[in-house]
Amino acid sequence: MVGHYSSISVIISMLIATSYGSCGVHQMLDVVVLYDTSSSLTSADIDDQKSFIHNLGFQLYLHPDHTNIAGIGVDNSSHFGWGLRDYMTSTDLWYAMESNLTLTGGGSDLSPGMDMAWNNILSSNARSGSTRWLLVLTSTTVMSSTTSLDAMKAAGVKVGFVSTQPATSYTSLASDSRYIFGGSTWSTIGSSAQAVAELMFCPPYCESFVFYYDLPSTMSVIADTNSNVGYYLTHETSGLNGVGAYNIHCCGALASLEYKAATSGSFVLQVWRAEYLAYQTTITASVGYQSHTFSPKVAIAAGDVLGWYSAGVNPIGIASNCSGELCQKEIRQVTDMGSLAVGDSYAWSSAYPMPDTAFAIKFTMVNGTVPTFSGGDAPVSISESLTVGSSVAVASLTDDLGESLVWSDLGSPYFEYNQTTGLITLMTTLPVTGVETPYFLSLSVFDSCLNTASVAINITTVVVPLAINNLPTEVELGDDTSSETLLIVINATDPAADSISCMLTSILPETTNFRVDDYLNGTAGVFLNADAELDFKTTEEYKIFVTCTGTSSMESFLTVRILDKSVTTPYTVPAWAAGAIVVSVGSVGVVLAMVCFLIVVILATTDEAEVLPPVEEDENAKKPVDDAAQMYKKVDKKETYREGFGEF
Ligand SMILES: *[C@@H]1O[C@H](CO)[C@@H](O)[C@H](O)[C@H]1NC(C)=O
Ligand SMILES: *[C@@H]1O[C@H](CO)[C@@H](O)[C@H](O)[C@H]1NC(C)=O
Ligand SMILES: *[C@@H]1O[C@H](CO)[C@@H](O)[C@H](O)[C@H]1NC(C)=O
Ligand SMILES: *[C@@H]1O[C@H](CO)[C@@H](O)[C@H](O)[C@H]1NC(C)=O
Ligand SMILES: *[C@@H]1O[C@H](CO)[C@@H](O)[C@H](O)[C@H]1NC(C)=O
Ligand SMILES: *[C@@H]1O[C@H](CO)[C@@H](O)[C@H](O)[C@H]1NC(C)=O
Ligand SMILES: *[C@@H]1O[C@H](CO)[C@@H](O)[C@H](O)[C@H]1NC(C)=O
Ligand SMILES: *[C@@H]1O[C@H](CO)[C@@H](O)[C@H](O)[C@H]1NC(C)=O
Repeated sequence: MVGHYSSISVIISMLIATSYGSCGVHQMLDVVVLYDTSSSLTSADIDDQKSFIHNLGFQLYLHPDHTNIAGIGVDNSSHFGWGLRDYMTSTDLWYAMESNLTLTGGGSDLSPGMDMAWNNILSSNARSGSTRWLLVLTSTTVMSSTTSLDAMKAAGVKVGFVSTQPATSYTSLASDSRYIFGGSTWSTIGSSAQAVAELMFCPPYCESFVFYYDLPSTMSVIADTNSNVGYYLTHETSGLNGVGAYNIHCCGALASLEYKAATSGSFVLQVWRAEYLAYQTTITASVGYQSHTFSPKVAIAAGDVLGWYSAGVNPIGIASNCSGELCQKEIRQVTDMGSLAVGDSYAWSSAYPMPDTAFAIKFTMVNGTVPTFSGGDAPVSISESLTVGSSVAVASLTDDLGESLVWSDLGSPYFEYNQTTGLITLMTTLPVTGVETPYFLSLSVFDSCLNTASVAINITTVVVPLAINNLPTEVELGDDTSSETLLIVINATDPAADSISCMLTSILPETTNFRVDDYLNGTAGVFLNADAELDFKTTEEYKIFVTCTGTSSMESFLTVRILDKSVTTPYTVPAWAAGAIVVSVGSVGVVLAMVCFLIVVILATTDEAEVLPPVEEDENAKKPVDDAAQMYKKVDKKETYREGFGEF
């Protein structure tokens, strides 16, 4: 009576399951289910477990090439139920469980069952290349030893729990927190196979899934006769399980293709997003089994449809006998398709569906690499007057599906991110504020599977204070000089200032021989006044203190060394002139031209440099004048002049 009732519930659950696809067809799964046969359970609980296991087998597509399920009953010892390859249909599995899966009634301990699962099945009896799973149906957390569990996890076996205990009880036991279906009751577990399959076995990402009717390497094929032909591997099948061999239920990347060519030729592999051609590549085939690796991998979205076009005769072999659930009923064919370009559309919905046809073609999908940034995430300091075009930071992305990434904006009008180089570059001059100013940049990217990465780049401008670039320094002057003479043009910079003004602060010892005055085009110079009275014997040296003010002030000084006019040796001006200017003093006839040094004020906002015409000088004085010292920047501002005050 119980058996009859259960059979009805199986049929009902089968109908429910039929309306959903299966992902086991896309995988090679070797699953060991531990079911609970301890004394704490009732026979109804046992029936619920049978129902769950049967439905799971259905969801995962029991098949020699796809999902194999073994069962072990567990109380405080292990009870072998059936092996991985004992049952290849969910119906056979159901009948086996009816007679074989019973209460054993001992205490509770998961360890003996884990030992048997690992030692007797998963360590040695799984298929090569399969994904191995241990799925534990249980009402207990008791484990006298975790030796086998640890060994399984270390060997890459995925371990999941379906339990009446809270999910948190298994956090450290499951191989991934996603693989826990906890806090359930036996009666709801019975109908939870689909939820568990989706949670654990059928993730929305193409971890490592295969899509094929039969293995191309071993398939027996016949040659196609169509040319200028396109094929579209629709998801639909009329197979019993709603299983679609080419139903791309996951998001990821197309990694490789295997096929068996019945004739040689070339074909254009195509990825369709409904009727939009998202990707294509030409592949040349010679007769026989071949494989093609996509490098870079091709972004695939869940629901994409794969197909190909062949201008000549389609080389890909057709299954000589197509039968069973995976034999496609709905592959679309068009025999006058013509070449298309990525971005084109094609009305596949009106194409001819081919019943009972399968091709010798297999696709392998994997997860796309989750994008990650390197670089960035470190504070950067820059000057406010940084030159446009300068790179300030680097944040490079690692990803294998570059063409399908969606980038966010950097979030600043001043900076731009170059996706190729990963460089963040200043695109337009920063506002000059004179205070430290932060710029918060952030960048994020989504791949086609909505994996995301982001990076933050915090840029702070550092304030560059006013600087008098060519003071302190010293000049030498013969004491016979008495005409007005420019001694130095002050080079002061302050990127944050609209204007800089310089004025004479004091002279030691006090004298009226010198002044600070406008020089050319907004520059200030230190001058020897006309009719100055210099005498080497009285004062050998003056210090002329000058204060320049922009957004900040700074004082510095010029040392004027007075030389005895009787000295005839030419003096080389020291370091401040970089050895470039030689000043002769004291020689008879050198009265003019004590123009010793010329540097100009440069304002950050000016841009054009011109060469100043050589300064008037005595021909005996032999002054190879440094070009750089003659450079000045043109200033547009109108100067105002005040006594002893040069503003520029
Ligand atoms: C289930 O059947 C297998 C043989 O098919 C047998 O070895 C095993 O002991 C049985 N298990 C139970 C719990 O009856
Ligand atoms: C298993 O549980 C049963 C019933 O609780 C008990 O009699 C038996 O001693 C236990 N065996 C072991 C190995 O713990
Ligand atoms: C696949 O990608 C998903 C989402 O990023 C991730 O959770 C999962 O662990 C990945 N699986 C593998 C095998 O890389
Ligand atoms: C196709 O025929 C071969 C040989 O007759 C057979 O071994 C194979 O199982 C058949 N394949 C299918 C899918 O029916
Ligand atoms: C960037 O600035 C934001 C906001 O102040 C802060 O939360 C974040 O930690 C900073 N990041 C770095 C890398 O300095
Ligand atoms: C990014 O950098 C590359 C290599 O320097 C250059 O060819 C490309 O034009 C740049 N892209 C943009 C948008 O500036
Ligand atoms: C100063 O500026 C004026 C007008 O811009 C220009 O004509 C003159 O040549 C400049 N003086 C020098 C020395 O370059
Ligand atoms: C002024 O000083 C700055 C900083 O040292 C320098 O880069 C610039 O070339 C100088 N200007 C002239 C005209 O020498």
